[in-house]
Amino acid sequence: MALQGRRILLIIAGGIAAYKSLDLIRRLRERGASVRVVMTQGAQRFITPLSAASLSGDTVYTDLFSLTEESEMGHLRLAGEADLVVVAPATADLLAKMAAGLADDLAATALLATDKPILIAPAMNTRMWRNAATQANLALLESRGMRRVGPNAGPLAEGESGPGRMAEPLEIVAAIEQMLGGGVLAGRRALVTSGPTFEPIDPVRFIANRSSGKQGHAIAAALAGLGAETVLVSGPTAEPDPPGVRVVHVESAREMLAACEKALPADVAVCAAAVADWRAEAAPQKLKKKNGPPPALKLVENPDILASLSKPGNRRPRLVVGFAAETEKLIEHAREKRAKKGCDWIVANDVSAAAGTFGGDANTVHLIDAGGVEDWPPLSKREVAARLADRIARFLERKAAE
Ligand code: CTP
Repeated sequence: MALQGRRILLIIAGGIAAYKSLDLIRRLRERGASVRVVMTQGAQRFITPLSAASLSGDTVYTDLFSLTEESEMGHLRLAGEADLVVVAPATADLLAKMAAGLADDLAATALLATDKPILIAPAMNTRMWRNAATQANLALLESRGMRRVGPNAGPLAEGESGPGRMAEPLEIVAAIEQMLGGGVLAGRRALVTSGPTFEPIDPVRFIANRSSGKQGHAIAAALAGLGAETVLVSGPTAEPDPPGVRVVHVESAREMLAACEKALPADVAVCAAAVADWRAEAAPQKLKKKNGPPPALKLVENPDILASLSKPGNRRPRLVVGFAAETEKLIEHAREKRAKKGCDWIVANDVSAAAGTFGGDANTVHLIDAGGVEDWPPLSKREVAARLADRIARFLERKAAE
């Protein structure tokens, strides 16, 4: 187990995202970590110490001056007996206290007293997040070596939308594994394709598609988060390069294939790019309007990167994962695609206009392997990425044990 024997001090502050911290406790314990929990007064308005204690299997600490708690565990010991301190959710208020070095409750005191690495998972309203005070506090904390995961953008509890959602539990787990070293994918190599391809028509025009690259980029970030040495081969997108990932920027399908082949060998390849199936025979000079019919485009087929990576041979990654973007007969078409391309898994997603997948943040997918179909609930693209990375890690772990 990836976190066997590691000791996490989890500080839960008062925000609605506190409910996700209960799942975080469960996920950490599943991986063999022991979790000791400190809750602020505010946190106790959202979740009860009893829920956290049931999941952590340990006393939950809430009070700086409680004689019973203090006699069992002073705040200095609390801070010292951990390999890592995680603050999730980290509210704007607690971040401000940390930046100022205040120690007016148990959480703030433990944070001031610890000399252990600290990971913060901020969660707050978008306007509080964007406020210059919060940003300055964060910059200060990061300059002191604290690490941060999230926040993600998306709908917030108050009905608004924007950055401020706490990172998902599995993303926090990945960040923890990365900080403690030896993530479950440490020593593994991953290759991910993402984004659209641009296929030139002439030196100034091209054929493209609506892929945003969000899903592929999130997958690369999630795999790197689990410790994999990750190469992301990306077509043109507005997405920033994910941290900890080597990004190779390409434009056309042929460039993407060449970059992928160069990135081999890899233990796993995930093809999330929306590669153009055809390219035009590009004109060497800009096509000009003439008095006559508009020019006809002659299309030729592009190489299929997924099929090419799936070809049997000693350079084939142990696990090749493709995506099937379909507008109808999702499972049937995705199954056919899996067989045709020779990949191991297909992540099938509905890209009909009604599903809002292209360019949006949400994704309802089905994971298809040789054994059958697994329906996943509607998830954000980051959640899909975290789940997929987790599945990939478990698959490779199983293969290594065989
Ligand atoms: N893919 C690829 N190279 C291509 C075309 C597709 O690597 N030239 C990969 C995509 O990254 C994705 C999978 O193949 O993982 C499915 O792509 P999709 O466009 O949905 O399928 P197509 O092969 O284009 O089939 P169809 O046009 O019949 O839907």
